[in-house]
Amino acid sequence: MSAPSATDSVAAHPGLTLGSLHVPTPVVLAPMAGITNAAYRRLCAEQGAGLYVCEMITSRGLVEGDQHTRDMLVFDELETVRSVQLYGTDPVHVGKAAEILCSEYGVAHIDLNFGCPVPKVTRKGGGGALPWKRGLLAEILEHAVRAAAPYDVPVTMKTRKGIDQDHLTYLDAGRIAQESGVAAIALHGRTVAQAYSGQADWDAIGELVAAVDIPVLGNGDIWEAADALRMVEQTGAAGVVVGRGCLGRPWLFRDLAAAFADPSSVGPVGTRSLPRLGEVAAMMRRHAELLCHHMGEERGCKEFRKHVSWYLKGFAAGGAMRRDLGLVSTLADLDALLAELDPDEEFPVSELGTPRGRQGSPRARVVLPEGWLDDADGRGCAVEEDLHSGG
Ligand SMILES: Cc1cc2nc3c(=O)[nH]c(=O)nc-3n(C[C@H](O)[C@H](O)[C@H](O)COP(=O)(O)O)c2cc1C
Repeated sequence: MSAPSATDSVAAHPGLTLGSLHVPTPVVLAPMAGITNAAYRRLCAEQGAGLYVCEMITSRGLVEGDQHTRDMLVFDELETVRSVQLYGTDPVHVGKAAEILCSEYGVAHIDLNFGCPVPKVTRKGGGGALPWKRGLLAEILEHAVRAAAPYDVPVTMKTRKGIDQDHLTYLDAGRIAQESGVAAIALHGRTVAQAYSGQADWDAIGELVAAVDIPVLGNGDIWEAADALRMVEQTGAAGVVVGRGCLGRPWLFRDLAAAFADPSSVGPVGTRSLPRLGEVAAMMRRHAELLCHHMGEERGCKEFRKHVSWYLKGFAAGGAMRRDLGLVSTLADLDALLAELDPDEEFPVSELGTPRGRQGSPRARVVLPEGWLDDADGRGCAVEEDLHSGG
């Protein structure tokens, strides 16, 4: 009898259980500001199976009725499982916002963001800086869980390893999440100081799995379905959170669903269902059409422009074509341009397994409020909360 291979051990994946919510395929679309709107979530859902999280919205914006925040809370008609990421630093605000999401928006899942590396956010002690204040983190989680409990809505948290290598917080965050009744914790295997640079540390994900009893979702550097299987195998994570890998590649969710259903179908980098340019063009058209459906044609086409280079990465389309697609303002224009692409062009396999989307370089120093690191509890401390949602 042959020894079990790496993929055999995930052959009968039971799916992901987040409190009352069962997700048959253990795959979560990472919340990405400016990307994971209703159109994109539907596009990905049409390809695969999993949990598709809305762009981050702020608790304060929701509680104070900020119009822009409310406008971002749009769900597709076919989106039966509504999942929203909430940002907040004030426990009372977060609790109220969670209540609003459950009672007014009928959400089935709330994720709390404690990983944002943007200086504007960490400067005030928010995002990835907040878990340093263990007591405050506990208060926020407890308020959210308490507000969502009567609706049986699971609350999860998403975080990074810590502020920097000398100020790691993920193991404490895992313990606090578990004690607060959080249904799962997602860990992006980078510190705030690393931003999106370097390689995600999957060993840290494995350490967190070993340290807590709640499900851990692994995040960072899943570029192909094979990476997702490898992460689960290597770390024991209950599921994976996929961000940049699906930029311009909604079909990655098809690969991921196939991979978790039948790991033996997966080659070294992914399944072999690579789309030719004609199929990619059809997905571009579908993406633009869904954006226009939700936002109107003018705004929808504008929103679509930023996705063009991701869709065409590695294909032969020339500079003029890319430029024109990047300026598209109607669906009719888009159709005319897409018709010029060679539908038979094969997928550029050299792109497989390579990073895409933002990478950047590490920060020399994470901007924090004065004296932030002096006290690691912070219970009752007020952290100024942003009003505006969006990236
Ligand atoms: C454009 C962009 C926007 C993002 N916005 C958010 C966000 O609003 N909330 C959040 O928790 N993470 C956000 N992230 C981080 C991703 O959710 C994810 O943790 C990160 O990209 C690492 O996963 P990946 O290697 O699969 O991309 C964003 C990432 C990108 C690239």
